[in-house]
Amino acid sequence: MDLGEALIVLMRWAHALAAIVWLGGGAYATLILGPRLREAADEGEAGAVVARVGAAAGREFGRWVNAAIVVFIVSGVLLTFDRLAGRGATAEYGIVLVLKIGLALWMFGIAQGLGRRRKRRPAAGRAAAVRQFLGSPRLLLWLGAITVLLAAILKAIYEATLGG
Ligand code: HEM
Repeated sequence: MDLGEALIVLMRWAHALAAIVWLGGGAYATLILGPRLREAADEGEAGAVVARVGAAAGREFGRWVNAAIVVFIVSGVLLTFDRLAGRGATAEYGIVLVLKIGLALWMFGIAQGLGRRRKRRPAAGRAAAVRQFLGSPRLLLWLGAITVLLAAILKAIYEATLGG
């Protein structure tokens, strides 16, 4: 394995770790911790403490999300150059990769928006409800899961072309 190949292995590892932090942390915060904290706050159990813990956990996870975004972009760009320089990069591969990067940029936008939304009171009305959903942590999780599926499809297309 030469230096270039070792760098790509390292970038693939860093990229996969960022995906684990993003999806694992996001799932825990959105599906487990968040609902329990809201329940505890609604039941008046030390409401102020619960709200403080929730806000602090959200801020801390926000820092991990920002770090993951940097890792995604740096490792993603290097993986992209490596793949597009190879024989397995077909038009099909390119289309799926553009779709994956588009979803990733949408997710980065939602993640940044969530940080800002924590400081703002949610608006009322149908349009606001749609905007709320399009910027919601649950949608972020779904988009993350679809992005990982697209990564698996990319690998399959690439290896099938090499193998074909
Ligand atoms: C700017 C953003 C991103 C770029 C440019 C990018 C690019 C890439 C590329 C080129 C690959 C290699 C695909 C192959 O095997 O041919 C890849 C793999 C992957 N990407 Fe991304 N990606 C980005 C963001 C994301 C995000 C946000 C996630 C998850 C939430 C993600 C999850 C993955 C996973 C799980 C793999 C497979 C890694 C492996 O094979 O071990 N990527 N990405």
